[in-house]
Amino acid sequence: MRPHDVKEILIDKTAIAQRVDALVDEIAATGKPGNLAVIGILKGSFMFLADLMRSFHRHNIHPRIDFLTLSSYGSGTESSGTVEIVHDIRDEIAGTDVLLVDDILDSGLTLAFTKELFLKRGAKTVRTCVLLDKQTARSVEFEADFAGFKIDDHFVVGYGLDYDNLYRELPHIAKVRFV
Ligand code: IMP
Ligand code: MG
Repeated sequence: MRPHDVKEILIDKTAIAQRVDALVDEIAATGKPGNLAVIGILKGSFMFLADLMRSFHRHNIHPRIDFLTLSSYGSGTESSGTVEIVHDIRDEIAGTDVLLVDDILDSGLTLAFTKELFLKRGAKTVRTCVLLDKQTARSVEFEADFAGFKIDDHFVVGYGLDYDNLYRELPHIAKVRFV
């Protein structure tokens, strides 16, 4: 870990809460999926996913929920380029409408890999939802179906996102400043 601080708030918790509700309104406006399974990619999505789920309640939508633990980053701030399944989902996915939830879209590798995986397993549809959409050069062509905020290319933490497994507890998104 390099010397750094996380003092600068990029997106505060009020803005996050409002955007999460608006995202769920967008998702609900596309119609009620028959058999919706919300799948969170751990660990980064846990806080976002919990807030999304509470917001689904307003639309009387009752998704199933499951989690997949993936690893791609190791302890640095650059993607290692490979995605590894550390812990798989438990539920049957064939025939379901999957909403894949991740904290941030960066190189695109994680979501491209996971979407392909669930399509191969027979999901009826797979859509993707991220809180943050980093405006970077993707390693693979990929855009999320639903995205909370577009952000510039800097490393951020909080609201589930980590730097070396730290700062996931912050209720806001902060910039990591290397000093
Ligand atoms: P991708 O596979 O490069 O799109 O990266 C997605 C994953 O990289 C996310 O699930 C995060 O865990 C991690 N990641 C990418 N950018 C950041 C960041 O700025 N802060 C913390 N984690 C990040
Ligand atoms: Mg991470």
